[in-house]
Amino acid sequence: MHDLVIRGGQVATSFGTVRCDIGVAGGRIATLAEHIPGGENVIDAGGLLVVPGGVDSHCHIEEPREDGGVMEESFVSASRAAFAGGTTSVVCFIPQWKGQGVWDRYQDYRARAARGMLDHAFHQIISDPTDAVMEEEVPRLVAEGVRSLKVFLTYEPLHVTDAQYIRVLETARKLGALVTVHCENFDAIRWRTQRLLEAGLIGPRYHAWSRPSVVEREATHRAIALAELVDQPIQVFHVSCAEAAEEIARAQARGLKVWGETCPQYLTLTAEHMGRPDGALFMCSPAPRGADEHARLWEVIRRGTLDVISSDHCAFSIAAKRGDDFSTIPNGIPGLAARMPLVFSEGVSKGRISVEEFVALTSTNAAKLMGLYPKKGAIQPGSDADLVLWDPARQVRITNALMQHAVDNTPFEGMDVKGWPVMTIRRGQVVMRDGQVQAEGGTGEYLPRAAYGMAQPRGITPNGFGA
Ligand code: URP
Ligand code: ZN
Ligand code: ZN
Repeated sequence: MHDLVIRGGQVATSFGTVRCDIGVAGGRIATLAEHIPGGENVIDAGGLLVVPGGVDSHCHIEEPREDGGVMEESFVSASRAAFAGGTTSVVCFIPQWKGQGVWDRYQDYRARAARGMLDHAFHQIISDPTDAVMEEEVPRLVAEGVRSLKVFLTYEPLHVTDAQYIRVLETARKLGALVTVHCENFDAIRWRTQRLLEAGLIGPRYHAWSRPSVVEREATHRAIALAELVDQPIQVFHVSCAEAAEEIARAQARGLKVWGETCPQYLTLTAEHMGRPDGALFMCSPAPRGADEHARLWEVIRRGTLDVISSDHCAFSIAAKRGDDFSTIPNGIPGLAARMPLVFSEGVSKGRISVEEFVALTSTNAAKLMGLYPKKGAIQPGSDADLVLWDPARQVRITNALMQHAVDNTPFEGMDVKGWPVMTIRRGQVVMRDGQVQAEGGTGEYLPRAAYGMAQPRGITPNGFGA
């Protein structure tokens, strides 16, 4: 009856941990029981935790660049990195560069993603919300299961104005799609960058000076206020500091459908890293803050204000990060493989969160918010058998080789972690065992997303107009 039985593990979900066996049939979880006899294949999970495969809902993989090139991380290399780190599903981005449509981009990106081994869903980036894009192409995409639109409130070629952001919110509301937002103030960063460069302050350390917390807090407040005006659910991406998280907490306390994500880099790196000779390798946006911010972020995570920890994986090689001028060095760091080990180690092993909270933060909450639950992010009959056998006692020093991504650096190089994935199972198939990834290209499945409650508006607008 079962193709696979995982025996004797401590099975941890977001709502509890229990010692039980898991029976898998046809790639799905079929049975959870104290003891499952027989089975064609049996895996001994004694002494290990068994957690749902990670869902990383913020990954930049094989994105076409504005110049016609493509990112170094392919779906095949990203799949290796993901499996090495316990992640089995990703939500990644289809960029729209200004002047482009989105429909042909989507078809191209589907074909690229289909070459990998990871199960995948998409966010559509909107940088040019023309009538044709918003009225004709985006509805087609949503019908294809692309149920989230991403906007950047900063970045020179991608950012949208407030008017354009409102248009995206309005369209998403009509279509029942989530909006995800990069919150930093474009004009404020541009002004400060210009002044820093004029003062000769140009190295990577000044990346953090160009975009202090206040520009993130302001944009977070504005993103939320405009979403409230339109009555559209949003997720604020990569929150780097408690002052931005406080804006989210205030919105949540008022009952708004606003969620917040953070990333391991904001819990482990600081602005000081960008002052090192290899400082460019730590440059991402928002910028990592002071070391005291880590404890503040853990506090807002514990309170539930930030309920998803994604990687914001955006890998560049050392060569691509070369340069003296912070304003021209690409932003982004790789983190797909390091994400779950870092969250487990910094969170569970250091006593900041429970194992159940670890599961919620790295898998279940993202699956729910992205409309993938309970197919993903759960260990229950009917869910995909995406499972990770986790050794909570294993001590590992992170190296770039362990990350298995396409680039030659990790900002987490040399960090010691306690807790490590020893086996990753995707839809019932062992795809990583003791660091060896064994999966054939082309086996990753597209995850179309149907309408779901979390992305639906509340039906409450100012004066009741347009509700
Ligand atoms: O620096 C970052 N975060 N790069 C990736 C793109 C984004 O802003 O999410
Ligand atoms: Zn961003
Ligand atoms: Zn990103």
